[in-house]
Amino acid sequence: MADKKNASPSGEGRLRHIAFIMDGNGRWAKKRGMPRTYGHAAGAKVFKKIVEYCGAIGIEAVTVYAFSTENWRRPKEEVDAILSLFTDYIGEAERSFRDKDIQLHFLGSKEVFPPELKARMERLEEVSKDRRLILNIAVNYGGRDDIVHAVNTLIAEGKRTITEEDITSRLYTKDSPAPDLIVRTGAEKRLSNFLLWEAAYAELYFTEVLWPDFDEKQVDLCVEEFYGRRRRYGAI
Ligand code: FPP
Repeated sequence: MADKKNASPSGEGRLRHIAFIMDGNGRWAKKRGMPRTYGHAAGAKVFKKIVEYCGAIGIEAVTVYAFSTENWRRPKEEVDAILSLFTDYIGEAERSFRDKDIQLHFLGSKEVFPPELKARMERLEEVSKDRRLILNIAVNYGGRDDIVHAVNTLIAEGKRTITEEDITSRLYTKDSPAPDLIVRTGAEKRLSNFLLWEAAYAELYFTEVLWPDFDEKQVDLCVEEFYGRRRRYGAI
């Protein structure tokens, strides 16, 4: 059980996988009298710093919620700005990721992206697959959508009855251990359609810190809090 990908937590209690809901970019920018897109640009920088730090402290997998299936409803200018930060990151990964030891996965349907970008994303997933730190970037992602996608995959495979493991192993996160800790910045206390299936046993951590202000010290606080909680998985 312990080494099974994305299974229910093994009970070892080790922090292997942290997921982040990077909330608060817009408010951070507004406080500075700047457009929301300025906040997203600052957020993208913080994202890179935090991924690097998580790798350095021995975390095995990091997942970030970069763009949800609901985010398409934002003004076009903002959607374009977020997607452009994302595309820049793809370019950076292509140019300079060889020595970073990061294994990239994109969670969510890639079908909405131009074929050329989709191909680049798939190629990055392929070339990075043996690297150490798993980095899942959720773009055009929704937790419900992922479960529906997994069930449709099972139907297409001809399954008539399904198990939890069948669903788990067809989610976009199938190559990661289950998230141990889900962190949401920006003061809201909800999951907003993020990792709904995978969150079953995750510890949840909410902070008022806005994502662009999040830093290594904040990660340390999350880690400390995680190890301070008793994880019982329903047992006494
Ligand atoms: C939520 O804050 C944030 C987003 C919807 C976008 C997050 C995207 C990034 C940090 C850039 C991603 C880039 C890469 C390379 C992965 P909000 O806009 O809802 O903030 P608010 O609640 O203060 O309005």
